[in-house]
Amino acid sequence: MRPPREEPTLGRDELLELFSARLMQSYEETYSLFRILRLLACAPDPMQQIRLVCTNVQQVLPFGWVAAVFRSDVNVVPQLRGKVVLTGEAAQQNELEMALRRACASLRGNEWTKVLIPGGHELADLSGGEVVCDPITFDDQVVGLLVAGSKRTENGEIASPEMQFLDAVAEFIGTFHENAARFVEQRAMSIGTIEALTAAIDAKDPYTCGHSERVALLARQIALAMGLDEAEADRIRTAGIVHDVGKIGVPESVLCKPGKLTDQEFAAIKLHPEIGHRILRGVVLLEHTLPGVLHHHERFDGKGYPHRLSGEAIPLQARIIGIADTFDAMSSSRSYRPALPREKVMAEIVRCSGSQFDPKVVQAFLKVDLAEYDQILSRQTAQASRAAA
Ligand SMILES: [Fe+2]
Repeated sequence: MRPPREEPTLGRDELLELFSARLMQSYEETYSLFRILRLLACAPDPMQQIRLVCTNVQQVLPFGWVAAVFRSDVNVVPQLRGKVVLTGEAAQQNELEMALRRACASLRGNEWTKVLIPGGHELADLSGGEVVCDPITFDDQVVGLLVAGSKRTENGEIASPEMQFLDAVAEFIGTFHENAARFVEQRAMSIGTIEALTAAIDAKDPYTCGHSERVALLARQIALAMGLDEAEADRIRTAGIVHDVGKIGVPESVLCKPGKLTDQEFAAIKLHPEIGHRILRGVVLLEHTLPGVLHHHERFDGKGYPHRLSGEAIPLQARIIGIADTFDAMSSSRSYRPALPREKVMAEIVRCSGSQFDPKVVQAFLKVDLAEYDQILSRQTAQASRAAA
């Protein structure tokens, strides 16, 4: 605990000046709170949002640094789990980040706002002055901390209005986290439903059972091999899951036909990208998968369908899914032929680089470790044979 401080006696003019300064500060703080609320309502990336919030706090309060740190628990949204956002100038940044993680990990259920003082807590020692620590809560549990230190005033002591301001911001972050968690939950539910739907479509033909899941896995791995970030790779994975959703509109007799397709039957199959696009167009959470769904049968040389796009005019997502799709089709048994040997499949992919496939995506594909794919394929093939027996 900090010892009580004696307030100096002030004259009328000084009091008036102090009152005006506090009023001005209050106005700025209130305005900043609104700005922070707006920030939390519109930016799309949680880490970016939290960073902007910390920067905004620093603009209005005289702290040298402001940090938000989140626990590694499962109830913290994946984008923020175990993350530290530190803005401003901190003397020993790495040590401070580690101390922030420790402070967050040691949190108990009923934490409240604390002022930490040098000699009493390592965060204050590292910061060289008082540090204010505000819990961020979600579902009555502490999920993180909003922390500020190195106050740029003569005595460096933290005042009550600053604590109230930080309290309000920590509340906002808690609400923001709650919304983000609900969004993640809703998205997982929607994707679960779509996964079930695509699995049902794949199951129409025992030979394509598990196809969408395997294409999704490969598409994600190719995206990562191309240097795309995890979030984009996840979006491409989802597009892989739903890429053939339009097959729901193609008659089973055509989809499962063991022999050669007539021109009319082939024309019916070729409609599935557009059917899939129409189905998913209204699903807001899956909007990002539309390019992959519509264009995964385009070819790099422009001879594909439905729009005969060529080169980089084909969305990258679709170019990636195109290779994953063809690779899986050749690697798994079909009603009209057994699975092709791996060397033959790889040779075919390389042969079609520049004609059917984007050479850059082929290069990335060649770097992918296929162990996980092979595991899933053999498990699904065994399941399909058991079901057929
Ligand atoms: Fe397809």
